[in-house]
Amino acid sequence: MSRTLFVTTALPYANGSFHIGHIMEYIQADIWVRSMRMAGHTVHFVGADDAHGAPIMLKAESENITPQALVARYADERPKYLNGFNIRFDHWHSTDSAENVALSQDIYRALREAGLIDTRTIEQFYDPVKGMFLADRYIKGECPKCHAKDQYGDSCEVCGAVYAPTDLINPYSTLTKATPVLKQSEHFFFKLSDPRCVAFLQDWTTGSNAVGAKRLQSEVLAKTREWLGGEDGEAKLGDWDISRDAPYFGIEIPDAPGKYFYVWLDAPVGYLASLKAYCQVKGLDFDALLDPAGTTEQVHFIGKDIIYFHALFWPAMLKFAGRKTPDALNVHGFITVSGEKMSKSRGTGISPLRYLDLGMNPEWMRYYIAAKLNARVEDLDFNPDDFIARVNSDLVGKYVNIASRAANFVTKHFDGKLAFVGDTDAMVQEQTALADSIRAGFEAREFGRVIRDIMAYADRINQAFDAAQPWLLAKGIEGADDATRAQLQDICSRALAGFKAVSVMLTPVLPTLTDRVAQELFGAAQPFVWTDAGQLPQAIAPFKHLMQRVDPKMLDDLFEPPAGAVIAGATAAATAAKAAKPAQAAAPSAAATEGTVAADGALPGGEAIAPIITIDDFAKIDLRIAKIVDCVAVEGSKKLLQLTLDVGEGRHRNVFSGIKSMYEPQDLIGKLTVMVANLAPRTMKFGVSEGMVLAASHADGKAEPGIYVLEPFTGAKPGMRVG
Ligand code: MSP
Ligand code: ZN
Repeated sequence: MSRTLFVTTALPYANGSFHIGHIMEYIQADIWVRSMRMAGHTVHFVGADDAHGAPIMLKAESENITPQALVARYADERPKYLNGFNIRFDHWHSTDSAENVALSQDIYRALREAGLIDTRTIEQFYDPVKGMFLADRYIKGECPKCHAKDQYGDSCEVCGAVYAPTDLINPYSTLTKATPVLKQSEHFFFKLSDPRCVAFLQDWTTGSNAVGAKRLQSEVLAKTREWLGGEDGEAKLGDWDISRDAPYFGIEIPDAPGKYFYVWLDAPVGYLASLKAYCQVKGLDFDALLDPAGTTEQVHFIGKDIIYFHALFWPAMLKFAGRKTPDALNVHGFITVSGEKMSKSRGTGISPLRYLDLGMNPEWMRYYIAAKLNARVEDLDFNPDDFIARVNSDLVGKYVNIASRAANFVTKHFDGKLAFVGDTDAMVQEQTALADSIRAGFEAREFGRVIRDIMAYADRINQAFDAAQPWLLAKGIEGADDATRAQLQDICSRALAGFKAVSVMLTPVLPTLTDRVAQELFGAAQPFVWTDAGQLPQAIAPFKHLMQRVDPKMLDDLFEPPAGAVIAGATAAATAAKAAKPAQAAAPSAAATEGTVAADGALPGGEAIAPIITIDDFAKIDLRIAKIVDCVAVEGSKKLLQLTLDVGEGRHRNVFSGIKSMYEPQDLIGKLTVMVANLAPRTMKFGVSEGMVLAASHADGKAEPGIYVLEPFTGAKPGMRVG
């Protein structure tokens, strides 16, 4: 039965570049989509930028550009990442689009018709200077429980207390430092507590889709049970506040001047908007495709942090707007890097773009991620050594190796023709059955199991090849009898038939590589589909090199900033200033751009002084006197020393610094230096760096090498602030 699928991934916020977490999600979905297409199903696979909301509005404002321009900047760079990792969305759209405005407003109107929209006056903190209501994250103050300063409006990071922003002592707006005032405003609510919604969600969350698969993974179902109040029917769901007051970058609420949809209302509608825009391009019938009584399956891939929105709000919105509801929610865990959590603010040790820029093969990453994924909501760790081992031993050592060993005999002695001695039925049956179980494994998102099974089969092919010792037969083959020749040809043909079957099975994961195998080696006209696994190949073209091994040095480069300078102070600031320049040049405000030009081309230390900053900008950088309590060389790194620093916090900091060329570790122990104490921690190959030691260097490190760590005059004590 051929199915029609509408598949999406979560829409990334359009105020930042893709990180490895996004790429992981797209790779998972892309593999799934490719596997479904290979089975003959029709798949419409779309994504979009999530453009709206206060953070994007404020970020654009701080850069003196429109939110649209900010969104466009990130939209422009999306293809580089997506194409780079062979992620093939059919369409990429934006929630800030005509389609999304129309669809969001339609859905809202339908919900209102259904009696599920309420208005209520609420009282909320308001920044009188900025003229804007403040979300909790823009309010800070003293914790009412432990009196820690500068705690956010919803909870205390020091004692863990949870409270309302109005409980804070001496609250202030993080936007202007003004004291917020309480102000009333009318808000719109989606009545999720309505018994109709609760009953529908009880049903939807526990149900199965058209092909008999559960809509939700068991862990996800358990979560929704918690939120829904379980079987006793006692609803725990509160109504959902879906409006925000101007100024807000979003979609206007019909018949409510100055009111906008909260970003999470129109964000998932962006799935539909993207599909609609795609349908327009392709001449497809959007309404027919998403007919609530139709057979299209709607499948969303998302991360574990946004289950609430997708398992409760979204299906209920669609249901009571009279639309088709989702058929499956495929939730994945988070990717960590060397065991460290990555986050939006802190970033991660591996940048997808850097990975590509280093010329690392995108299919290595696809393979590695596939090998570590399963259908559960589990986190997965990117570990550099594991990455090298899996790619080199599985992909190159087991898979590519089959062809590189068998193909040459066939080309050299049999003019590229394959031929088999005796029965091939058993082999074909095994390959067909295995391919079918692999296909089902992909569909069930058990990618890790699938990869293990494929590699176990590759092992068997290699073992059979080794056991037959074809290289012995090949020695005198040109003068050998027909039976011996046929035997050699059979050994190699079986290995290559196995190689073809394995290639078919790896196609969702390694589309580019296996497409070369299909077309260049086996002369196929099309990329592989599942049924190709049971088709014996007849001939091959001469083998061409298929895949490089990972050079472990590449992993060093992926984690370590070039020249070790980004971690050492002086040059880091210069690099940051350079990176910031284009944006500042585009800004109309002159004040921000002054000071960039050096007098008469005299460049102090080899570079122009960075643009002028205000004292407030400087105050953001917390420089502290640090005592180097320990210092060791980092094994495996030419540039780094690992410092243990005491800044008087009652704990020690771990900092990596690119100063190995200049200092013996033991000479630094006991000395004082200056560190940036509030720099976001950075995950590196060797561990997490919790700050940065200041050091001076010339901009042209080749002409004038040397990097000099700063040391304070006598009298300074660990923990003292520098400024
Ligand atoms: N804009 C919302 C989603 C709206 S969907 C209608 C959003 N954006 S996001 O950019 O923060 O996250 C996009 C996706 O990336 C989410 O599915 C999220 O779970 C996923 N990931 C973010 N960090 C991740 C990891 N470290 N690992 C894997 N996925 C991660 O949320
Ligand atoms: Zn507290």
